[in-house]
Amino acid sequence: MNIADDPDRAPARSHLYAMGLSDDDIRRPTVGIASTWTGTMPCNLTHRDLAQHVAVGVRRAGGTPMEFNTIAVSDNLTMGTPGMRASLVSREVIADSIELMGRAHQFDAMVCIVGCDKTVPAAMMAMARLDIPSVLLYSGSMMPGTWRGREVTVQDMWEALGERAVGRLGQDDVDDLARHACPGAGTCAAQYTANTMGTVADFLGLAPFGVGDIPAVAEEKTAAAERVGEIALDVLARDLRPSAILTADALHNAIASVAAMGGSTNAVLHLLAIAREAGLDLAIDDIGALCREVPIITALKPGGPHTSADLWRAGGTSLVAARLLAAGVLRDTVSLVDGRTLADVASDAAETPGQEVVTDVAHPVKPAGALAVLRGSLAPDGCVLKLGGRPDFVRSGPARVYDSEEECFAAIQAGTVTDGDVVVVRYEGPAGGPGMREMLSITGALVGRGLGDSVTLVTDGRFSGVSHGLVIGHVAPEAWHGGPIALVRDGDTVTVDSARNVLDLDVPDDELARRAAAWTRPARDVERGVFAKYVAVVGSASDGAVTV
Ligand code: FES
Repeated sequence: MNIADDPDRAPARSHLYAMGLSDDDIRRPTVGIASTWTGTMPCNLTHRDLAQHVAVGVRRAGGTPMEFNTIAVSDNLTMGTPGMRASLVSREVIADSIELMGRAHQFDAMVCIVGCDKTVPAAMMAMARLDIPSVLLYSGSMMPGTWRGREVTVQDMWEALGERAVGRLGQDDVDDLARHACPGAGTCAAQYTANTMGTVADFLGLAPFGVGDIPAVAEEKTAAAERVGEIALDVLARDLRPSAILTADALHNAIASVAAMGGSTNAVLHLLAIAREAGLDLAIDDIGALCREVPIITALKPGGPHTSADLWRAGGTSLVAARLLAAGVLRDTVSLVDGRTLADVASDAAETPGQEVVTDVAHPVKPAGALAVLRGSLAPDGCVLKLGGRPDFVRSGPARVYDSEEECFAAIQAGTVTDGDVVVVRYEGPAGGPGMREMLSITGALVGRGLGDSVTLVTDGRFSGVSHGLVIGHVAPEAWHGGPIALVRDGDTVTVDSARNVLDLDVPDDELARRAAAWTRPARDVERGVFAKYVAVVGSASDGAVTV
């Protein structure tokens, strides 16, 4: 144990004895077990138990486990409220917390147990910073619920609010659905942000394939957690560090997985941040370009009918890797944390006969890509279109401009937004929100009212992985910094041309110059505390909204 070996470290050893450790325990390598448990959400509810099982594996393999905890913010609980501003900020706090514990206690190796959205990229960012042998354990998806004879997830909850607004559901229906949509512990139950980032961890090589797929409440998870504890000692013996795992080829594979599985647009933000922590060059356009090449080969919600539990039963992310490797999409030049190669993962993949979740590149679920990166006069530094396998399109429409998510949601529910409108929601960027809130209340309301395919949403905020429809987020520069999105007025024509990767504001340059000269930043009540610190240091969404 680095911190207690030297004879002069006897005072430190006195506290280790106080914890019940023996001389033998103190001589062994220490494995920090970072759990993102909180009792505030179902997503991370299993982490304390998992940490115990990881510790069993660590001890069995000859190490001494040392558990610690971080904060975590529930996206679903805070969605549509001021609390959502804390979500992206929490990514930085969690990464900083794990990093600080690693630097303070000088672990020899580390396991990070993660679940809810921001905990997954945060842990990978911390692993890259500390660069000690490390393994990521994704705690697993929730099972879907059942309501009135059909499988449901939290996605159905948000869309139910729109259906209530047009009278298709009553409040009693919505309340009844809420009691059935989420039957127990685990992350949101399909290829939303948490599961997207869980698969990113597999394809980056930081998590062992086959572990994250296992649903949170499946009994197989405990044995898998013990195995992860053993792997931590194995990566220590091999001195395999995140810097050797996080390479340009690993990033390529991770981006390909997001594309092939129709993943969340949040992956763009998080991949940029992870690349930056690892010292790798990755531009937002690189992600867009690869996502254009790789078709969607899984039929997962929100773009398809299946849940993450269905994917696990079908063969899991290992089967997806096998299909992508066979098509030449993946680069088998990478190091995986459990010592296998991608070819090993592919040959170990067990496909369930008759499964309908995973196809192959020659027979995609949707031939077009999951997302696209657009630029243009409305987004000179880029933005992200959730293409969702939709064929390329050109759409022009009159802008309806709102300065917050709440303003926009109220307008949609009041019936003010109609077919063909381009809804612009601004001052919701990383600094402007602050915290770049996810616009799920808006996309859910639009879909629920039947406007998901006829109204375009453009924002400097971002989207939940649950969101679908014609949605464009991460517009940069953001309104808070006086980007062109701050200058849009009601009735201006906004044009999206997905084939040309363009988002334009059709207003003459001299008029835009006049508006820019008259623009002033609106007041925001963020003079103190964590949000004030965040606003002072956070960067552009087009660079991952990082704080260093
Ligand atoms: Fe935690 Fe969806 S809110 S995973």
